Amino acid sequence: MEYQLCPSILSADFNRLGEQIKALERAGVKWLHIDVMDGDFVPSISFGMPVIKSIRKESSLFFDVHLMVSAPERYIKDFAECGADSITVHAEACEDLERAIQLIRDAGAEVGISIKPATPVNDISHFLDDVDTVLVMTVQPGFGGQKYIEDCTEKIQELRELIQKEDLDVNIQVDGGINDDTLETVIRAGANLLVAGSYVFQGDLEANTRKIIDKIQEISEEVE
Ligand code: DX5
Ligand code: ZN
Repeated sequence: MEYQLCPSILSADFNRLGEQIKALERAGVKWLHIDVMDGDFVPSISFGMPVIKSIRKESSLFFDVHLMVSAPERYIKDFAECGADSITVHAEACEDLERAIQLIRDAGAEVGISIKPATPVNDISHFLDDVDTVLVMTVQPGFGGQKYIEDCTEKIQELRELIQKEDLDVNIQVDGGINDDTLETVIRAGANLLVAGSYVFQGDLEANTRKIIDKIQEISEEVE
């Protein structure tokens, strides 16, 4: 299984965004997690296409775009065109999740679907065949710097068991409150794509990133 740290630029210093992305690249990051918020599906507003288009010009990282947006079907093509490699939509935000998945595929991006902490795995289990990644939110979507919701560990386990039972190749991504204490818990539960915002960006970005990547490697080797 491929394990990746996916730093969330929501916690970046936007005055130095390009520079900070370069630092992540130097430290060995491959995936960049890009949180788009619309002020409707979630209370806050972050950024959208123009920012992604700008950073795409100077980065070859895998752009993992997390749409915390109501009716995201409206924007899938636009996000793919401005450089998203993977697009994740929320099950709760789509009227027709199957159609949203198809639109992402048609746009040539990898497909992610996400569930909020209160949404059961059961709600998306019949789509596992059609997606590359399931993003299990481990905080309420909308803000960085929140505390990991412990109840989510069971959902990660349940999902990994289901994926294994069906012999599928689906990533489990976790997002929210991932830090030194929770990293091991989520990897042991079955997560392989680890989003982290504040844990990466607080303090020395490059040193933190190297340390976290090493730690992910260490834990994943124990788990495999
Ligand atoms: C929250 C976002 C996250 C956020 C995580 O709604 O989806 O990606 O940046 O931040 P931390 O790692 O600080 O919890
Ligand atoms: Zn996110």
